[in-house]
Amino acid sequence: MGARLDVVAADRARLDVTDRAAVLEAFDGLRPEVALHCAAWTAVDDCERDPDRAYQVNAMGTRNLVEAAARTGTHLLYVSTDYVFDGELGRPYREWDAPSPRSVYGASKFGGEQECPPGTATIVRTSWVCGAHGVNMVRTLLRLAAGTGTVRFVDDQRGAPTFTADLAPALVTLAMDRRPGVHHVTNQGETTWFGLARAVFAGAGADPDRVVPISTAELDPPRAAPRPANSVLDNAALRLGGLPLLPEWHDGLERVLRALGPVPPASPT
Ligand SMILES: NC(=O)c1ccc[n+]([C@@H]2O[C@H](COP(=O)([O-])OP(=O)(O)OC[C@H]3O[C@@H](n4cnc5c(N)ncnc54)[C@H](OP(=O)(O)O)[C@@H]3O)[C@@H](O)[C@H]2O)c1
Repeated sequence: MGARLDVVAADRARLDVTDRAAVLEAFDGLRPEVALHCAAWTAVDDCERDPDRAYQVNAMGTRNLVEAAARTGTHLLYVSTDYVFDGELGRPYREWDAPSPRSVYGASKFGGEQECPPGTATIVRTSWVCGAHGVNMVRTLLRLAAGTGTVRFVDDQRGAPTFTADLAPALVTLAMDRRPGVHHVTNQGETTWFGLARAVFAGAGADPDRVVPISTAELDPPRAAPRPANSVLDNAALRLGGLPLLPEWHDGLERVLRALGPVPPASPT
């Protein structure tokens, strides 16, 4: 059993990270030991249409948290993304590879990283986050699996699905340990969206052959924001820092599917 932690969860209604005065007041009042900063505007395609809003939340919001954390001696952990890379590299990205985001979302999240003081804050880049709760690809796929007919998923974007039940404890460990610098934290192994879709269909007892592979160029309509073709993050800082790696992604998926229970059969049309 780990130590008992008092946790204060703040959603946007409770603490808007773009409101500098409110952020300073919240930190001054609470004086948290650590703060896990997960807030972001994550609507990747909408960010292309409204870069100011993306930077307001993802970069300026992080600036506010950095300022507040410095005043109270709070260790800040900032959750960042594979989208800081262009996805062109022919191997998994290490923490020390130069970011070159291709989307406004990726650039604004990188802006957030640049706000984090080197040598103090923890930056965790993760990818393809899924879990038993909230809106995420596994839950979307389960809904599709319970339906009928074929579904199309891209087979030319590679990444590591990462499960919240594995990611969250790793974030807590890094933050409580006050580990500085960038850490790539994903489940191990890699696949494509097509591969993930097939695995979810198979795990849910649906026919995986209902999933049809397509290329990104075949997406209709095309997405406003480019996605990295290679999103695979080498978890080098964990490995070299002597910290445990997250389990293989199939393992995380199996646990989520077990937690969510059997998929209801498709209703007759
Ligand atoms: N999902 C992924 O695959 C993935 C991959 C890599 C990194 N990440 C990072 O992981 C973190 C969580 O992402 P997620 O996928 O869970 O996305 P999400 O569901 O959109 O969560 C983002 C949260 O931030 C909140 N938020 C937005 N603007 C805010 C503001 N001004 N002040 C305070 N809170 C605000 C949102 O509240 P509202 O819902 O009220 O807007 C939402 O609860 C983000 O930092 C994201 O960049 C996600």
